[in-house]
Amino acid sequence: MEKLETVVQEALKLFARIDDAAQLEQAKARYLGKAGALTGLLKSLGKLPATERPSMGARINAAKERLEAALAAQREKIQSRRLETQLAQEALDVTLAGRGAGVGGLHPVTRTMQRIEALFHSIGFEVADGPEIETDYYNFTALNQPENHPARSMHDTFYVDDGKHLLRTHTSPIQIRYMETHRPPIKIIAPGRVYRVDSDATHSPMFHQIEGLWIDEHISLADLKGVVADFLRRFFERDDLKVRFRPSFFPFTEPSAEIDMSFGDGWLEIGGCGMVHPNVLKNVNIDSEKHQGFAFGLGPDRLTMLRYGVNDLRLFFENDLRFLKQFN
Ligand code: DAH
Repeated sequence: MEKLETVVQEALKLFARIDDAAQLEQAKARYLGKAGALTGLLKSLGKLPATERPSMGARINAAKERLEAALAAQREKIQSRRLETQLAQEALDVTLAGRGAGVGGLHPVTRTMQRIEALFHSIGFEVADGPEIETDYYNFTALNQPENHPARSMHDTFYVDDGKHLLRTHTSPIQIRYMETHRPPIKIIAPGRVYRVDSDATHSPMFHQIEGLWIDEHISLADLKGVVADFLRRFFERDDLKVRFRPSFFPFTEPSAEIDMSFGDGWLEIGGCGMVHPNVLKNVNIDSEKHQGFAFGLGPDRLTMLRYGVNDLRLFFENDLRFLKQFN
């Protein structure tokens, strides 16, 4: 029965070398199958003398169990190796940044608005708001621009069906709304969308304005110029920026001026301003003998174009992410 041990050793060696599940089962058949080596030994038990049979039978059974155990262990090894290679092949790099989890960003004009609000806030201006759908009264009449006033023709806009409402053409109506509900001192800026029938590289039917209003007892044109010039220098971070007031006309201010800033060799218009007209103050029951002040309207879209070097206003409102992403 030297043979039994040889067979077992041979089988164990063979099993250990196999790394394929099907081959392992074939190898098993060679030893434990119907025509297998161990099965053959069991069959030959009958030829042994009766006294040796039980012990030999027990040895063969023990050998069978060893082989079965070795097979089970090898099966497990093969399977876990296969799993490992599969995992390695299908590996995910969980440290890679996720796709499509963009947090979004601020629109360049929104950035400008926030910057303007912060700069004015630092010198004591509050932020006020008003509706985009306005009445004729707030958009024109209360701003000293009665029906049939020729200046109205400069503000062609979109009318709402009922004939009483329109899309506001400027942020100036917020002045009226604010002064109706607040008494001086009044010191506000009012950012917002405005609308006009206009469309080219520097005009969009919807654009933005920032209104400014400071009413108190001793506010002068000098304060207006100081506030505007100081704001522009801080906005563009340039102390050498020049600011020019060019005489102009607005129904709601007197005197009125266009605000120009130096740009390259020339000047660029970036807003309008003036001392609030006594008729406007009268319309909101503020005594113009006691209180006076200034107002201005700036174009934040224009300021954004200048700050970032964008040459077509329409790019801001086309919502092309390739364009917008550059600002974030
Ligand atoms: N509302 C004017 C416009 O849209 C701009 C403006 C000019 C506003 C002078 C003002 C101002 O407050 O004082 O054309």
